[in-house]
Amino acid sequence: MIVAVLNQKGGVGRTTLALHLAGEWGLRGKRVTLIDADPQSSALDWSKQRARENVSRLFGVVSLARDTLHREVPKIARTADHVVIDGPPRVAGLMRSALLAADLVLIPVQPSPLDGWASAEMLSLLREARIYRPQLAARFVLNRCDARTVIAREATEALADHDPPVLVSTIGQRVVFADAAQSGRLVFELAEESAAAREIAAFAAEVARIAP
Ligand SMILES: Nc1ncnc2c1ncn2[C@@H]1O[C@H](COP(=O)(O)OP(=O)(O)O)[C@@H](O)[C@H]1O
Ligand SMILES: [Mg+2]
Repeated sequence: MIVAVLNQKGGVGRTTLALHLAGEWGLRGKRVTLIDADPQSSALDWSKQRARENVSRLFGVVSLARDTLHREVPKIARTADHVVIDGPPRVAGLMRSALLAADLVLIPVQPSPLDGWASAEMLSLLREARIYRPQLAARFVLNRCDARTVIAREATEALADHDPPVLVSTIGQRVVFADAAQSGRLVFELAEESAAAREIAAFAAEVARIAP
């Protein structure tokens, strides 16, 4: 399966979720390649940090921030069980290419009343991609979400009969994600029994059940 984690908005958790999805599947014995399609290359930096600290490699990371992504991904996908694309902000050409490469698009959003869900731009890019790839699946993922708050509940309700639908699994606002980003680690390596680790496991399992 080829999963693209996309949102034209920066800082919503694309890299965090892409790394953890790849890591969780790698941990479960899948061959996973993460494609860093963001010119800022934060996923690549994370993997370099990991290599410097000699932490075992759970998945491969390649940097490929080019508009020809959709032509190169099938080659990469042949030698992997799963490919995860960490998407760029803005950059429409790259975003289009990632949409053409993917079987499933995950759109991280933060449940905030001020935050328009995914912007109209993201959704219109998705509609455009579906002209060429009608079977392209898409889901919202609520990130930095405290399931007990009113805002989160309202967000889930607002997204319930939305197209794309929202994943049942949500990811909470947790400091350990920031620690993981800085140390080249994943939350289940820093805190095995944590809520963050459980949420990631549930999230990855739910995504894996969405057959392309
Ligand atoms: N669930 C979370 N809890 C706490 N911090 C988070 C969470 N998700 C992301 N972050 C932090 O927010 C910042 C932006 O996240 P990032 O994944 O880099 O977003 P993007 O790739 O969309 O720009 C990073 O510092 C990251 O560690
Ligand atoms: Mg990023």
